[in-house]
Amino acid sequence: MALPNINPTTTNAWKKLQEHFENVKDVHMKDLFAQDSDRANNMTIKWDDFYVDFSKNRITKETLSYLLELTKDVKLKEAIQAQFSGEIINKTEGRAVLHTALRAPKTAEFKVDGVNVVLEVQAVKQKIEAFTNEVVNGIRKGYTGKAFTDVVNIGIGGSDLGPAMVVDSLQYYKNHLTTHFVSNVDGDHVNEVIKKLDPETTLFVVVSKTFTTQETLSNANTLKTWFLKSADSSAIAKHFVAVSTNIDSVKNFGIDENNVFPMWDWVGGRFSLWSAVGLTVSLAVGYSNFASLLKGANKMDNHFKNEDFENNIPVVLALISVWYNNFFKAESEAVIPYSQYLNQFATYLQQGIMESNGKSIDRNGTPVDYETGTLIWGEPGTNSQHAFFQLIHQGTKLIPADFIGFTKSLHGNQDHQDKLISNFLAQTEALLNGKTEAEVIAEGTKEDIIPFKVFQGNKPTNTIFINKLSPESLGKLIAMYEHKIFVQGIIWNIFSYDQFGVELGKQLASKILQEFNNSTVNEHDSSTQNLLSYYKKMS
Ligand code: F6P
Repeated sequence: MALPNINPTTTNAWKKLQEHFENVKDVHMKDLFAQDSDRANNMTIKWDDFYVDFSKNRITKETLSYLLELTKDVKLKEAIQAQFSGEIINKTEGRAVLHTALRAPKTAEFKVDGVNVVLEVQAVKQKIEAFTNEVVNGIRKGYTGKAFTDVVNIGIGGSDLGPAMVVDSLQYYKNHLTTHFVSNVDGDHVNEVIKKLDPETTLFVVVSKTFTTQETLSNANTLKTWFLKSADSSAIAKHFVAVSTNIDSVKNFGIDENNVFPMWDWVGGRFSLWSAVGLTVSLAVGYSNFASLLKGANKMDNHFKNEDFENNIPVVLALISVWYNNFFKAESEAVIPYSQYLNQFATYLQQGIMESNGKSIDRNGTPVDYETGTLIWGEPGTNSQHAFFQLIHQGTKLIPADFIGFTKSLHGNQDHQDKLISNFLAQTEALLNGKTEAEVIAEGTKEDIIPFKVFQGNKPTNTIFINKLSPESLGKLIAMYEHKIFVQGIIWNIFSYDQFGVELGKQLASKILQEFNNSTVNEHDSSTQNLLSYYKKMS
């Protein structure tokens, strides 16, 4: 079965939502709370170690019922079934979408062209486990017989952001290996990393699904050249491993076939950290923690696949986001983790969300006449409170936000934890209630200052409260957003798993590069031409 192909705006549910929106768009959440003492209980999903409170949204029971009706009208259930059963739902690239198979138990069955891929996945997992143990335990050594101390992950996009975010988020669980991430084609990036490396004790993990990506190949070549200043080429087999679907190109690069960790075309780059793309994660935190990350994601997969939509966390979050995006016309969403460990989380989500749903052609091949993918951004609280929260509280834009917090801190400093969580709770309360003119006056504010101190409130938030940051809970959290992306792509009737939009810039860059290297002259607009000439003169 192909994915359903339904313009959401032509459905009955959409029409009901449009009418309903006109009635509720100005309602203040404060009133909704005042009218229903059970609102928070009714709008909270408790699942495993997750407590998801979505009551601080500009929605009523009716809104939810129409949004749930929309899932029926766009055939979301059938779409989920198509995804999990290995249908070619990435139609524009002719591929299945089965990152869920990477975290399924050994006994599961995920078929691509009639073949159960779980067996191949298990074989690669065993290879990751054995390799990780050898490196971490110092059994696998460098060319001078010393154990490895450093691991350099060379990749970009999905081959960098996922592993980098997870290693950073799980630094509490890290072992003695120091990890580095080289992604940008900016040579200053790789050279700054080189300054910290010793060739005798550094392991290089080249991660590229296609093994054609300019940035990754340039960085890998630069690091290989640097390495070969100290070692001879026979040492490459000890120090360089690769993760790719393109085994021939990996071999051409000079990496031993035994050092290749395969992946599959049914895993999209931005959903690939669960595959051998996560090798650096496994090396950094040990295989059993990597396995727990996968286990957590698998639990979320089962929740998503089996739970009724009204209690289904990714589905409910996706629907609320559609409500703001398509009816309130909110342009962006913020993700604010109250954990410094999740410093890179929003950056990671940007690729997942914006590369997937930043599309304007529907599944019929025609331009959409409604809004699709949201802009996503964020930084950890409390830092972000002192940076951009002013605009969320008192600016003119509506910015729905996800607040992610952990009830327990990892180092157990209760004083800091209480202060952190008091901020976490206070911000969503402030965003909900705001501050009235009467309250400002009651504080004894000078008359001419009063309007500046009023907060309208009515700013929507979801609170995602998790017991503790662990590999397993992080796995659940990432998978939660992956499924949210899927649901939204289905509703917007777009293909979420291609990324043709990144190609044009790449093509033009390679043309311009030729102009730097030889006398080729291409035609450009006058602005680009001037800039190009300026660079040639100044560089
Ligand atoms: O920028 C586009 C993209 O294809 C991403 O989707 C992908 O994650 C990244 O480039 C890296 O690709 P690869 O793993 O093939 O080097």
